[in-house]
Amino acid sequence: MSTTRVMIVGNGGREHALAWRLTHEGHEVLAAPGREGYGDDARRLDVDAGDPEALVARARDERVELAVVGPEQPLVDGLADRLRDAGIPTVGPSAAAAELEGSKAAAKRFMVEHDVPTARHETVRTLAEGLAALERFEAPPVVKADGLAAGKGVTVAETMDEARAALRECLEGGAFGAAGRTVVLEQRLRGQEVSLFALTDGSAAATFLPAQDHKRLGEGDTGPNTGGMGAYAPAPIYDEAVAAKVRSRILAPTLAGLRAQGRPFVGVLFVGLMIDDAGEPWVIEYNCRFGDPEVQPLLFGLRVPLLPRLLDAAHGRLRDEVLPGDPAATVVLASAGYPRSSHVGDRIEGLEALAGEADVKAFHAGTRRAGDAWVTDGGRVLGICARAPSLPAALDRARAAAESVRFDGVQMRRDIGARAR
Ligand SMILES: Nc1ncnc2c1ncn2[C@@H]1O[C@H](COP(=O)(O)OP(=O)(O)O)[C@@H](O)[C@H]1O
Ligand SMILES: [Mg+2]
Repeated sequence: MSTTRVMIVGNGGREHALAWRLTHEGHEVLAAPGREGYGDDARRLDVDAGDPEALVARARDERVELAVVGPEQPLVDGLADRLRDAGIPTVGPSAAAAELEGSKAAAKRFMVEHDVPTARHETVRTLAEGLAALERFEAPPVVKADGLAAGKGVTVAETMDEARAALRECLEGGAFGAAGRTVVLEQRLRGQEVSLFALTDGSAAATFLPAQDHKRLGEGDTGPNTGGMGAYAPAPIYDEAVAAKVRSRILAPTLAGLRAQGRPFVGVLFVGLMIDDAGEPWVIEYNCRFGDPEVQPLLFGLRVPLLPRLLDAAHGRLRDEVLPGDPAATVVLASAGYPRSSHVGDRIEGLEALAGEADVKAFHAGTRRAGDAWVTDGGRVLGICARAPSLPAALDRARAAAESVRFDGVQMRRDIGARAR
């Protein structure tokens, strides 16, 4: 097998999972910039993920054969365009295609135009417009800042007063800055959420196992929203009937619509789905990249090589495929104070004992080396991922492994995947 030199842009748990996967497949991984905790899973480049010039220069100097861009902000800002202009095969959509994540108003408009099933919505730009639009919703709508808001821009209002307050915060309070100057109001959907990731070259799509993440901090889906406290795959609610509907009513028209508009999507398209009681899938949102922590169980459990498919996507020769994977789960360990703040410098115990386990992997999202120890260095600190022949076994293994890692003030959910047991 030949070795491919791949650059991965980013420094979180998502990029660690990508680095581990490709190193494990025998390739040479350069993390731009990654973090110390990636260890032998990558060689680190001293470069800022937010500096496109430097990234393109390093990719050229290092003669990388493939670039994979992890986070959304550089994609929305056009990093993939720059890399491709420099002749570097890249997995990551153009700025034009990444607009599906960069602007919720644009994404909703696109869905309406292409008959993709999604909640009824109205887009507003002033408080007066917003308050008037509220009157046209029978039940309190979901209130969404248009732009990138690091997962904090959405209020699922329980009352009309809450919806009014959220509108006010965005449109007059300056919450989320420019990202909140346009607001999408949308009807609240009911059902179960599923994360579907499709690697695509703009036409064909290779879909990963359906995953579910857990955004709330507390067990039983209580407490504040977070970047994600755990995830697992496969999600049993996403059966073959749902999958067929998603392919024909959502994936196909989305990819064809973007192609027709001259902005084919080359990269990982995330579709956030609500599956209602009748088994009908609705799109909550699109993202333009892998989500963390869902990517961890998807790549840790994947049963076929990832690298050739990434290359095929970048070179426009992908085939439609459903990628097989073993059941897997990640439990996130967060630091004290998260998500309001994060506590740095707490000494982490127990990682060494996990290092020898074949079916467990610790992905580093917010750690740092201090002397001879690992310490916390962010809100979400580690993703403890396990795979097993059955989902219950993977869930048990991930939880037990997560419990064996300790630091002061550690926060974790012990109910990851409870709905799928
Ligand atoms: N129309 C909706 N109906 C019900 N819940 C929703 C709706 N839109 C969003 N949500 C909830 O809010 C969360 C965040 O909304 P989303 O559109 O995914 O924005 P982001 O991930 O950018 O914060 C979703 O995962 C879902 O739980
Ligand atoms: Mg979302």
